[in-house]
Amino acid sequence: MDNNSLIELDNVAKVYEMGETQVSALKGVTYTIRKGDLLAIMGPSGSGKSTLMNIIGCLDKPSSGRYLLDGKEISTFDRNQLAEIRNKKIGFVFQNFNLLARTSALENTELPLLYSDVNTKKAREMALKSLEIVGLKGREHHKTNQISGGEKQRVAIARALVNSPSVILADEPTGNLDTKTGNEIMKIFTDLNEKEGITIILVTHDPEVAEVAKKAMYLRDGLIERIEGE
Ligand SMILES: Nc1ncnc2c1ncn2[C@@H]1O[C@H](COP(=O)(O)OP(=O)(O)O)[C@@H](O)[C@H]1O
Ligand SMILES: [Mg+2]
Repeated sequence: MDNNSLIELDNVAKVYEMGETQVSALKGVTYTIRKGDLLAIMGPSGSGKSTLMNIIGCLDKPSSGRYLLDGKEISTFDRNQLAEIRNKKIGFVFQNFNLLARTSALENTELPLLYSDVNTKKAREMALKSLEIVGLKGREHHKTNQISGGEKQRVAIARALVNSPSVILADEPTGNLDTKTGNEIMKIFTDLNEKEGITIILVTHDPEVAEVAKKAMYLRDGLIERIEGE
């Protein structure tokens, strides 16, 4: 195994069972994501992007094939083991932010630490640092209903960062933002990648967003059509 490999997908397939019918969402994806990669996943609707992100994010398991995260074979994990590894190693950012309503930026950012063994004082310090990294110093006590879409996504990124995850996964993180704000959010991702060395995988429909990533994977009908930037 390559020393720098973080995520190894080996012939990963996913079949959804829907009563009598089966949907093959992924048909054998083999690819290695290295520490420090900034990868965009692209492809038409229904090509398997979300399914792949769910597997990489340990929200779901492959039907067949192997998935290794940090050298650990995730395909064999049960629900509890998946939850634990998700908590430790993965930060999630969503298109619609998924923040707690009427709750402060600070409390939203601290949330993942509630499920860890970090004490409350330390949790607060870590959350403040994350918020500073995403440019929200001074805004910690603003509530989610008092901030803009771009600021909401910054809080979501701070929350994703707070655990020092091995990888941040973002599904259409600029999908609900105007172009200028979207560019600002992409700048945060590229800074995190370049300055903090954080591995980032994002799904996007927007070629301009993908352009910012170092590598792009194009999916079609559950298979990798091509990779750019290798
Ligand atoms: N939970 C599910 N149950 C059944 N079929 C699903 C489910 N999720 C996705 N699919 C199907 O799997 C295929 C890939 O979907 P998805 O991964 O969501 O693609 P994308 O994110 O690229 O639009 C599609 O045909 C979709 O209808
Ligand atoms: Mg999708």
